Amino acid sequence: MSSAAPKTVAVIGATGNQGMSVVKSLLETYPVRAFTRSPEKLQSLASEQPRLSIAHVADLTDTVAIKTELKGVWALFVNTYSDYTQPIGAEEKQGRAIVDAARDAGVEWLVYSSLPQGFPFRSFEEKANVAKYAREVAKTSGLKNIFPELGWYMTNIYWNPPVQTADGVVEFRWSCVDETTVFGLISTQTDLGPIIKAILANPSEWEDADIPIVSEAYTVPQIAEIYGKVHNVKTRAVFSEHMVDNKPFPAWPIMGKALTEVGSWPAYKGREQELNVMSKKLFPGLKTWEQWLKENTLNVVKESK
Ligand SMILES: NC(=O)c1ccc[n+]([C@@H]2O[C@H](COP(=O)([O-])OP(=O)(O)OC[C@H]3O[C@@H](n4cnc5c(N)ncnc54)[C@H](OP(=O)(O)O)[C@@H]3O)[C@@H](O)[C@H]2O)c1
Repeated sequence: MSSAAPKTVAVIGATGNQGMSVVKSLLETYPVRAFTRSPEKLQSLASEQPRLSIAHVADLTDTVAIKTELKGVWALFVNTYSDYTQPIGAEEKQGRAIVDAARDAGVEWLVYSSLPQGFPFRSFEEKANVAKYAREVAKTSGLKNIFPELGWYMTNIYWNPPVQTADGVVEFRWSCVDETTVFGLISTQTDLGPIIKAILANPSEWEDADIPIVSEAYTVPQIAEIYGKVHNVKTRAVFSEHMVDNKPFPAWPIMGKALTEVGSWPAYKGREQELNVMSKKLFPGLKTWEQWLKENTLNVVKESK
């Protein structure tokens, strides 16, 4: 047995949906250095997990501060936050600064959480630009890249819960998409961690790969039908051109249009059933939409006559 010290993995975006899933899974095997702007968010977990250390970095464009906290780190998982209140380019600036810091700190593996390429929406484009930059950096440094491309969180359904009409039918009402639009679904909070852990168990197999992180690919009518089967109710998918209440996601009309026109994964358009091949290989226990519905309470909005 090797007596070498276990390799440290760092996680940027550690307190979020993606990052916390990754931190919890990686702690089973590695010392983890978790980045946050607010260390108090991680204090309770750190008190239970001696292998967790906290890196307090307030500004993710500060290459020097990030590099300092990456000292001795073998692999880095990064998820930046798409803050639409910031000017266009803000997320890309963070991503580039993180790539530079990882290179300068001698990190071997960068696992950069990205989104499908070729999709005309700002967060997708900014993350794609960072991935392109990381590929350039890898040509002239020791940094090696892996690009998980996150699918549609199953929890997004909370943004737009179904409505039970007075006749008892549960309607899934969606605007700006249609019955042909396919969503690649993933239970991010439970399944991303095990997937990233499996990638890092054999990173060379995945070097430079774009990995769709998807469990199942469904249209809204299929999403509704499975809900009906689980809850033994009649369901219906209803589509409108315009969004009535866009508070949960103001940019939805732009994204919905893109989802319908180019497809949620342009490189897989027309063969979306292949989206889950790599994720399944990495983690055969991927949660299905049916399982997710059985394990989670989705409050249905009741509509009176
Ligand atoms: N929802 C989806 O279906 C979906 C699908 C694919 C990809 N994505 C992408 O996933 C990303 C969001 O990841 P997530 O779901 O893990 O996010 P989240 O749960 O909202 O967490 C975001 C994390 O980022 C950190 N952060 C840094 N700057 C921030 C800022 N200005 N505002 C808020 N948080 C900030 C926060 O950490 P600290 O406060 O600890 O610093 C926070 O823990 C977005 O870029 C989105 O495009 C989402």
